[in-house]
Amino acid sequence: MTAQAQTVDDADVAIAAETPAMHGTDVEHAQRARPIPRISIQAFCEIAETAEALQVAAEDRRLSKTHVSIHMGGVQSAIAHYQENPTPNLIVIESSDERALMIGQLDQLSEFCDAGTRVVVIGHHNDVLLYRDLLKRGVSEYLVAPITPLQLMESLSNLYNSPDAEPVGSVIAFIGAKGGVGSSTICHNVAWSLSEQLKTNVIVADLDLAFGTTGLDFNQDPIQGIADALQSPERLDEMLLDRLLTKCTERLSIFAAPVVLDRDFDISADACDVVIDVVRQHVPFVAIDLPHTWSPWVKRVLLQADEIVITAAPDLANLRNAKNIMDLVKASRNNDVPPRLVVNMAGMPKRPEISIKDFTAALGIEPIQVIEFDCENFGQAANNGQMVEEFSSKAKAAPLFRDLALTLSHRKDLRPDKKAKSQGGGLTPLLQKLKLKR
Ligand SMILES: Nc1ncnc2c1ncn2[C@@H]1O[C@H](COP(=O)(O)OP(=O)(O)O)[C@@H](O)[C@H]1O
Ligand SMILES: [Mg+2]
Repeated sequence: MTAQAQTVDDADVAIAAETPAMHGTDVEHAQRARPIPRISIQAFCEIAETAEALQVAAEDRRLSKTHVSIHMGGVQSAIAHYQENPTPNLIVIESSDERALMIGQLDQLSEFCDAGTRVVVIGHHNDVLLYRDLLKRGVSEYLVAPITPLQLMESLSNLYNSPDAEPVGSVIAFIGAKGGVGSSTICHNVAWSLSEQLKTNVIVADLDLAFGTTGLDFNQDPIQGIADALQSPERLDEMLLDRLLTKCTERLSIFAAPVVLDRDFDISADACDVVIDVVRQHVPFVAIDLPHTWSPWVKRVLLQADEIVITAAPDLANLRNAKNIMDLVKASRNNDVPPRLVVNMAGMPKRPEISIKDFTAALGIEPIQVIEFDCENFGQAANNGQMVEEFSSKAKAAPLFRDLALTLSHRKDLRPDKKAKSQGGGLTPLLQKLKLKR
């Protein structure tokens, strides 16, 4: 590192402590930004705001595999640095200079760029001629300051996930606040509905290796499945994936769990990462059916997903667990919409329930869907190996699954994250008793 190139330290970059509220355009960028591969990125900024945006992006889940370093001093600093150091996969340069000066400096920089290094320029002028000149010179992208972290993530994501090619699939993770609350049922019905309504390919990945019900729910008895992939993730390619998947309908395939108890499966978070990365290259949507357990890999899958659906039954233990999951997820995902809450099995006869109002007050978000207890349709559909809508299109839950599928695929306006309602409400004493931290 030369004297001119200073690494930005904490004092230089004051990152907002509060989670910024996501605005409309941010939500759109968030939906389009996909994970960025294992590359090294070095940025040379001119102003603190740009460095801050980069720093926030660097800490996001989508850049968790990348190695990012941020320096001040702009293009001059970069030239000095690369005279003595090899260039990384991607250089981000901020320059507020006018066209001629900027081009001259970038030409100088290019003399020190190794083949294969990409350059993204952040400028301060909305100048089409400059933009064209830069692209002609091989610059990958020109962004105009001020930039938001999500805008930046979307641009970087486009560089590595070709926008011309099919976009990398969106990953939706489903987890129950307790076991048996219907998380898998909702995962499967939503995945099926998604594939039917949007006429799009969907893969359901069953990560409940010992007790998964994906095979049963889709009336399949696969011999091979996801465990084979997780055991040797490095072998997973398109051909092997094809062999391991079980086709249920024209557009829906399952990556089934082995559901055997005599073999130990040691799942690692890294193996899950690799497998999900491969799967999402092949379909627009991956629905992940997580077991109700807590381990490093479950946490990783949850935190890396594009959308999270927490299913809870309306009782106190579910509420406490849902709140814990919600808090954990929100704390580490500043640039994502909060998890979606589905309250399932509402109105079960004779069972005392916590009201939706209290659920909403405690969790700070309204359920995206409240699904009634309906043992006739759910029970019979499950026994038949059918989806609820297939069994009975008149079932009350059928339109709810359709609606949920559209929301999760962003084919419908996103509902705003309703602010926590008043602190009061009938549940406050109970919450205090449980020492639930808001
Ligand atoms: N809304 C509902 N009404 C009645 N039964 C339901 C409902 N949702 C799910 N079930 C049933 O509850 C059982 C447990 O569901 P499952 O999806 O396996 O739960 P989880 O994955 O959370 O453990 C299944 O038999 C399922 O058919
Ligand atoms: Mg389940």
